[in-house]
Amino acid sequence: MCGIVGYIGLNDAKEILLRGLEKLEYRGYDSAGIAVSNAGGVSLFKSKGRIADLRDIVDESTEAQTGIGHTRWATHGVPNVTNAHPHQDASNRFTLVHNGVIENYDKLRREELADVQLVSDTDTEIIVQLIAKFVFGGLTTEEAFAKTLRMLHGSYAIAMLDEEEPDTIFVAKNKSPLLVGLGEEFNVVASDAMAMFQVTDQFVELHDGEMVIVTRENVRIRTLNGETISREPYKAELDATDIEKGTYPHYMLKEIDEQPAVLRKIIQAYQNEDGELHVDRETLDAINGADRIYIIAAGTSYHAGLVGKEYFEKFAGVPTEVHISSEFGYHMPLLSDKPLFVFISQSGETADSRQVLVRIKELGHPSLTVTNVAGSTLSRESDHTVLLHAGPEIAVASTKAYTAQIAVLGILAALASEAKGKTIGFDLIQELGIAANAAQTMVDRKEEMEGLSFDFLELSRNAFFIGRGLDYHVSLEGALKLKEISYIQAEGFAGGELKHGTIALIEEGTPVFALATQEAVSPNIRGNVKEVGARGAKSCIISMEGIQEEGDRIVIPAVHPMLAPLVSVIPLQLISYYAALHRGCDVDKPRNLAKSVTVE
Ligand code: G6P
Repeated sequence: MCGIVGYIGLNDAKEILLRGLEKLEYRGYDSAGIAVSNAGGVSLFKSKGRIADLRDIVDESTEAQTGIGHTRWATHGVPNVTNAHPHQDASNRFTLVHNGVIENYDKLRREELADVQLVSDTDTEIIVQLIAKFVFGGLTTEEAFAKTLRMLHGSYAIAMLDEEEPDTIFVAKNKSPLLVGLGEEFNVVASDAMAMFQVTDQFVELHDGEMVIVTRENVRIRTLNGETISREPYKAELDATDIEKGTYPHYMLKEIDEQPAVLRKIIQAYQNEDGELHVDRETLDAINGADRIYIIAAGTSYHAGLVGKEYFEKFAGVPTEVHISSEFGYHMPLLSDKPLFVFISQSGETADSRQVLVRIKELGHPSLTVTNVAGSTLSRESDHTVLLHAGPEIAVASTKAYTAQIAVLGILAALASEAKGKTIGFDLIQELGIAANAAQTMVDRKEEMEGLSFDFLELSRNAFFIGRGLDYHVSLEGALKLKEISYIQAEGFAGGELKHGTIALIEEGTPVFALATQEAVSPNIRGNVKEVGARGAKSCIISMEGIQEEGDRIVIPAVHPMLAPLVSVIPLQLISYYAALHRGCDVDKPRNLAKSVTVE
């Protein structure tokens, strides 16, 4: 979703900002802009579309060593140049970028800015116009900035330039991610360390309700009431190769390929010197102390949560519910005596999940976040964090985070089982190793998956994914992958549910991907394949060695059936990737989608 960068130093700000924005492209956006300031004033460049389009309109001859930039994912107002950030006040003295949503913007507009002619449809413009109003009413910029922030309800990460103070960037954060990066004779601002990793690996975390006065030499953090805060920087642990595509045409393909290595890394990360599964004591106590687990997640993470539920219930005997985070508030379940809330989130920033966390914290319930991003909002704000160790996931369509989430949930459930004196009946470390090898076999079968993608999806407008039991959960993820990147309408169904309505959509040639990795339900799903086949569907059965039958188009290597999702999802990811590629879609940055959805 929206991204912010800022730079103040001695080098060409334009290039550093543009490169920073390119690193944030993966989050999803529909317009972008930068503003750079020098003694002559502020120059503003904004465009709809990609950063490449913005580059084309940036005036090369503008020399400036200070600036701010933004990628916008439209919420208030359509994606166009007027609504793109940065925004300015009526006098053009103040220039501001903002991520988040100002909930009381309409009230502020009516009550405070009735006589100001607004130019955009955004909530952001209200902020910059208010600051200007207070400065022209006699406050200093810093005072007006703080006063305005105190009036805002909602979420924001903000960076602002004042033409009269060209050596300063004014920064603030509340419920939207923002960091300040430190360098020799320069400082930077970024909503993600990745954006400014090109110039520094030293970052200072900002907390909600703080503002920062950033100059070339200094970073001064304060509360909105004026108390100064001192905080040590930390070193961002990013590996430059993790955030580059290398020889891959797309991040998604790279990330699909990384899955076997990620599984091996997880096995290592959660094993002690004696080769036994291990997580920290407090986390384990939190799981063991729960009489019911409530998993909260969105998108792909929700699909991983469905598999996680099976693990917690079958391995550890802990009743587990899985909730879509955006719906949780409307159907708050009757909670058990000792609930544990488990948030699953690749980014750790999903606003829908965060609002559930805020609510359950108010109620005093314990929380655990399973995330790929250490230091992310959900991680910081929940009681415990378990990391995925998947490395940065950049393609919008989640792949390696899904398999990592399943593996980590399996480990947590197995540890909970052990702590209860139970046994899961197999050696999870060994079986995860076997699954990693099987995953390798599947990522090596790209050519075959490309062929299948072509055969089944070349001319399709829609596709169905069916499964039963664990396979049903994977079918949901398979359908999500296909629709989000190829725009083919795709639905995942419980095999048995097809005949209660959806089978009406089956026509001659409709592609149906049927997962059949679970022996107990394999005959039933094969029955469903016959049913849709009789109505003209073209079916691709994905089964597993040992229970395969003649005619199955994809047979994954034999793995423990409970771990089959780690492997069976890979052909579905690859088939989706090639379908999107053949349709000329922007695989890594599908239209309308964002990697990290920071608005509710
Ligand atoms: C967005 C992404 C999805 C992701 C979902 C949840 O919609 O495009 O790929 O699954 O958010 O994100 P999270 O970071 O919480 O796992």
